[in-house]
Order: sequence, then structure tokens, then C-alpha cells
Amino acid sequence: MVEQVIKCGDALTLLKEYPDEYFDCIITDPPYKLGTSSVKVNADGTISDKKRSRWVKKNADEDNQALIKTGQMIQNIPKFEDWLPEVYRVLKKGCHAYIMINGRNFAELQIKAEKVGFKFQNDLTWLKQNSTPNKFYMKSTERILMLRKGKERYINDMGASDVFYVKNPVGKKIHITEKPAELFRQMIVQSTNIGDKVLDCFGGGGAIVVACKETSREGHMIELLPKNCEIARKRLLETEIDYIQGGLFCQE
Ligand SMILES: C[S@@+](CC[C@H](N)C(=O)[O-])C[C@H]1O[C@@H](n2cnc3c(N)ncnc32)[C@H](O)[C@@H]1O
Repeated sequence: MVEQVIKCGDALTLLKEYPDEYFDCIITDPPYKLGTSSVKVNADGTISDKKRSRWVKKNADEDNQALIKTGQMIQNIPKFEDWLPEVYRVLKKGCHAYIMINGRNFAELQIKAEKVGFKFQNDLTWLKQNSTPNKFYMKSTERILMLRKGKERYINDMGASDVFYVKNPVGKKIHITEKPAELFRQMIVQSTNIGDKVLDCFGGGGAIVVACKETSREGHMIELLPKNCEIARKRLLETEIDYIQGGLFCQE
């Protein structure tokens, strides 16, 4: 059985433990600023609104609340330029990186990724099949910046769409910015083979390592908050391998 690894701590420190060109694919969903207004997405994915000086999301858990009270959450959002060089270093040549992002931050992320050596590969969309209120059109999509290191490699199914049609579960979530594992499975099977190593350096509730286990890839997750690491550990115990697909990706 292919192993799954969870490392609890700061990605900026823990990434340094990996040798150069260790991973066959990077898939990650990092924290980032929501905008230039008073509204911010914090490092744990919770949302704060300075103007109204209250938490818009009330379900931040106790650990997070303690960090929020001391102001650590907002201060600790890692900048793209802090982690992109390390993520680039640990990725093998000829392999892909997928980074979840919103429209406002897409351009900055792309520019900074190209600065460390990544090549732009595609601008992918997740169509969530549910919408959140927005004064300027309802929000029903998220963006995914697809990058590569080195020479071009095709995905396993070249007929695949650049839109992922995956339902976003509504209701109680195990992590405040939880994404469906199915979304990540679709990226995994396009850009890796069975047994390949996949890195998620901002793991949250573990959706990406869950998708790795399901598809027999070796997932490595880094997550700052012990509570989230524990959630991911439990989820992995309940996850079964249910989808075996190889491919030709990255085979010399
Ligand atoms: C957007 S969430 C990831 C959600 C995840 N994709 C899921 O479906 O559950 C980003 C995560 O990055 C974590 N994080 C923030 N700063 C970090 C850091 N410096 N090192 C590691 N993890 C960090 C947060 O605690 C949060 O759980």
C-alpha cells in the first residue's frame, strides 16, 4: 500500500526537509489575502472584516480563535514569494504544479511563480455547482493556476476539459475552506502515475492526501495547525483505495 505522510508545522520550515526534485506533482490550496478592502482571509481560511470589527464566519474553532485573538493568523499568511522558491526546488523537472487561487490574486501568483522558474501551463476553472452571494455576479467558480517545471509534458488524458465540474459540498464542513477530494483526484490522475509522490504544503483538512490515498499516490501534507492535522489523520484512516489508474505521465 502507498504511504501517506502528514507533517504538522510551518511549511516554510518543513519544506526545507525535502531534497531537491523529490515530488512528481504539487497540488496545494494556500492561504491568501482576499482583497485590498477591510475583508481578509486568514491563514486558516477563516474570514475577518476589520470595518465591522467582528468575525464574519463564527465557526472558527477554539484553536483558531486563540491564534486570531493574538493576531497571529493575519500576520502569518505566508507571502507567495516565501514558499514558491521551495515548492519549485522540490518538484521534479517535467512535472506539474496546481495552485488554487482566486481571480484577484491570480496575476500576482503567476508573476511570482514565473519569477522563481515555473512556466505557465494553464488557467483552469473549478465550477462548484453552487454559488455564493456577490454584488457583481454570483460567485460559482474558483481558479487553478497550472504550472510546470522544465520541459512540457502532456496530461494523461489530453481530451480532458479545462473546467472541473465537481460539486462543492454544502453544510457542516470539517475545515472552513474544505474542498472536495474529487476535485484533486482529477488533477492527480492527469499529472501523475500510481505510486508517484504528491505534495500539498497547505493541507487544511487533508482533502489532497485523501485523494492521493484513494488513487494510490504517495501524498505528503504539511499543515500549521495540529487540529487540522488530526482531522486529516482521522480522515485517512476512513479512506479506502477505490480508484486505480496509471498513466504515462513523467515516464522517461
Ligand atoms: C485554504 S486552507 C486548505 C484547505 C484544504 N484544501 C482542504 O480542503 O481542507 C489553507 C491551510 O493552510 C494552513 N496554513 C497557513 N499557513 C501555513 C503555514 N505557514 N504552513 C503550513 N500550513 C499553513 C492553514 O492552517 C489552512 O488549513
